[in-house]
Amino acid sequence: MRRNSRMNVTWKTLSNVVVLILLCRSLVTCYAQFGADYDDTPSAPPPPKEMENCNGIFITYSFNGRDKLYPHVKNASAQAWSFQSVMTVLNVGTVELKAWKVYVGFQYNELLVSADGAIVVEGDGFPYQVGKNGTVFAGYPMSDLKTAIETAGDYPSMQVQIMIKGTQFGLKKGNPMPKTIRLANEGYICPKARHTASYMDVCCVRDPKYKPKVVKTKFMPRQYGDLNMVYDVMQAYDNKYLAQVTIDNINPLGRLDRWNLTWEWMRNEFINTMKGAYTHKKDTSDCVYGPQGKYYADFDFSTVMSCNKKPIISDLPREKKDDEKVGKLPYCCRNGTILPTIMNETEARTIFQLEVFKLPPDMNRTALTPPQNWQITGLLNPTYKCGPPIRVDPTEFPDPSGLDTSTEAIASWQVTCNITRPKPKENKCCVSFSAYYADSVIPCNTCACGCQQPKSQCDANAQSLPLPPQALLVPFNDRANISQAWAHVKGFKLPKKSPCPDNCGVSINWHIDSDYRNGWTARMTLFNWQEDVFEDWFTAVQLKRTGAGFEKVYSFNGTLLPKTNNLIFMKGLPGLNFLMGEVNGTRPKDPRVPGKQQSVISFTKKALSDINIAKGDGFPTKVYFNGEECSLPTRLPQRSAGVYQATFNLLPAIFVAVLTFLLLSN
Ligand SMILES: *[C@@H]1O[C@H](CO)[C@@H](O)[C@H](O)[C@H]1NC(C)=O
Ligand SMILES: *[C@@H]1O[C@H](CO)[C@@H](O)[C@H](O)[C@H]1NC(C)=O
Ligand SMILES: *[C@@H]1O[C@H](CO)[C@@H](O)[C@H](O)[C@H]1NC(C)=O
Ligand SMILES: *[C@@H]1O[C@H](CO)[C@@H](O)[C@H](O)[C@H]1NC(C)=O
Ligand SMILES: *[C@@H]1O[C@H](CO)[C@@H](O)[C@H](O)[C@H]1NC(C)=O
Ligand SMILES: *[C@@H]1O[C@H](CO)[C@@H](O)[C@H](O)[C@H]1NC(C)=O
Ligand SMILES: *[C@@H]1O[C@H](CO)[C@@H](O)[C@H](O)[C@H]1NC(C)=O
Ligand SMILES: *[C@@H]1O[C@H](CO)[C@@H](O)[C@H](O)[C@H]1NC(C)=O
Ligand SMILES: *[C@@H]1O[C@H](CO)[C@@H](O)[C@H](O)[C@H]1NC(C)=O
Ligand SMILES: *[C@@H]1O[C@H](CO)[C@@H](O)[C@H](O)[C@H]1NC(C)=O
Repeated sequence: MRRNSRMNVTWKTLSNVVVLILLCRSLVTCYAQFGADYDDTPSAPPPPKEMENCNGIFITYSFNGRDKLYPHVKNASAQAWSFQSVMTVLNVGTVELKAWKVYVGFQYNELLVSADGAIVVEGDGFPYQVGKNGTVFAGYPMSDLKTAIETAGDYPSMQVQIMIKGTQFGLKKGNPMPKTIRLANEGYICPKARHTASYMDVCCVRDPKYKPKVVKTKFMPRQYGDLNMVYDVMQAYDNKYLAQVTIDNINPLGRLDRWNLTWEWMRNEFINTMKGAYTHKKDTSDCVYGPQGKYYADFDFSTVMSCNKKPIISDLPREKKDDEKVGKLPYCCRNGTILPTIMNETEARTIFQLEVFKLPPDMNRTALTPPQNWQITGLLNPTYKCGPPIRVDPTEFPDPSGLDTSTEAIASWQVTCNITRPKPKENKCCVSFSAYYADSVIPCNTCACGCQQPKSQCDANAQSLPLPPQALLVPFNDRANISQAWAHVKGFKLPKKSPCPDNCGVSINWHIDSDYRNGWTARMTLFNWQEDVFEDWFTAVQLKRTGAGFEKVYSFNGTLLPKTNNLIFMKGLPGLNFLMGEVNGTRPKDPRVPGKQQSVISFTKKALSDINIAKGDGFPTKVYFNGEECSLPTRLPQRSAGVYQATFNLLPAIFVAVLTFLLLSN
């Protein structure tokens, strides 16, 4: 503690300027006040030269001090400190900055507890654990920064000030400053930030080479990522409004099943009713004892949909589609499924409506604020990261009666979400490789989909063991004897501690079936190791070098997507659009049986040169199941000496697969 207070003192004496800055309500009003003060205030600092000379966006970050937190520990790198800092973003350029975004390169394992005036893009509210790569802030509630010219120098509309509070670890001495700060908006160039011990600033200017799209809209032009959500206010009253949420799947491999959407109400709003969706928890006590209950004293909260600050919203089942009360909306009620357009154009969109009650000081029909921190998840789907809601020009809705007229939303916000690639060992599906010329299968990577097993049971970092092909048909837990016997036959040594399973709900086997002069074939088998059934499943395979030679998929409906780097998209044929779940074996002692689907795919080598199937060209560079990228083996099957037929044939497997499938689909 003593060291800490002494440090604070030295910090204060050293950086007088910053203290002064912080005493003022904001950096610029501070300069403005001091500047306008004609009596002698000798300590008044002039605005930094850099700001005077800046024609763009001027960003500052001042560290305001820190305090040692309990528990006090000896290990300096594990010691927690609370810290406070202030960031300002000021438009001193000639162009309005819409939806400002600032990157802050935090580097001391920061946990952000609050940031007044901003939200974390890609976060789900505070507290927010900053990763290795720093974080991007966006403005809330003020997201646009006007210029001095258009406001006659009105600083409150030109700048924002963000008070950051957080916890930080492991810096013994000195100030935990970010590595850097910069504007994250498109079309700006930022030089290296200027540093002092507790202060940094940077002047970002417009990139002369950047060609902004011709903007004919009043608000930001719409931007499209992988998933597009729009929050349209359709009707507004002083104390409540009706909003419609439209979710559009744009990525050709994007998909959601049993989606859960969550967001955070920032102004004590609550959802009174909903159509086309529902919330999981009612939690009306939040309202009754909260400010809502105080203001709406006579309101019956027992019928309210949700009083949660962060409601979890889900789709209604299909049966509710024509329900007078909660259905009767176009594109509603799909039991949480959103498909890619290539599967079904109408099912690539979903819509729901909600009636939102507001609280003072927003009792004005024009006082509208969308919820923040949107997040959407699904069952075995790609992972989406969503940006903040951005005000866009009102959505136009065509007249339902077909007349050539359209109605406009009162206000519209857009939330863009992008798919993030799964990190290693965080996949949800995995791939095994095999080939007619190899008698061992390369199974899925160890812990491809995470490791739930305790360390004592298995080795999470060991390479998966080669298996005989029939082992792929049984659950991992029943493979031990098979792999032992196989090791014995093949004469390789088993490790002391066996590798952990892949733990994937879905696995895919890619088998090279044949390879001849003019072409080759592969056999793809999908395995479902969980009890959930996948309706309208799809898979996609990328073969960078050989995909262009795609000819035909025999038992699936396959198409080559030309625009996407030789991606072959496959779905079930009519009537075979279910990938069944895992079931018990026929006899009680038998291992459980996964759900399966299988097809042969043929390729030609015409017009392709230098193809070597066994050296890797016949193995996919990427595999997706229901949009989620699967983990791929890091090895290829090796040609076995002298073994050329029979033993490694998967045929019995196919037979079993078809038989189970027939049994299951009956
Ligand atoms: C100190 O703490 C850090 C972070 O918690 C940890 O990685 C490191 O092993 C610890 N060092 C000692 C000597 O305990
Ligand atoms: C950090 O950034 C690097 C390079 O941009 C990227 O490869 C990495 O995945 C990022 N890590 C995290 C945790 O976001
Ligand atoms: C609808 O989704 C629920 C879970 O959200 C699931 O239990 C149910 O089986 C699904 N119904 C259909 C018809 O798919
Ligand atoms: C797409 O889905 C809609 C609604 O669920 C259905 O009526 C239509 O037949 C589907 N279209 C195709 C091509 O499957
Ligand atoms: C509602 O807001 C508008 C603009 O924000 C303002 O002009 C108007 O006076 C407000 N009305 C009330 C009743 O506060
Ligand atoms: C959606 O949220 C509900 C309630 O928290 C949870 O039970 C369910 O498992 C979630 N579904 C998915 C697919 O995450
Ligand atoms: C998503 O990607 C689009 C296009 O690549 C980009 O404009 C947008 O900023 C991204 N959004 C997020 C939230 O990452
Ligand atoms: C695996 O082998 C053990 C003994 O080595 C035996 O007790 C067990 O029944 C075998 N399991 C199967 C599924 O064959
Ligand atoms: C395969 O899918 C395409 C596009 O979804 C569809 O037009 C075609 O009819 C399907 N073919 C068969 C045989 O089902
Ligand atoms: C599957 O087997 C387990 C025990 O092995 C049993 O508890 C369960 O009821 C069986 N399920 C079905 C659907 O028969």
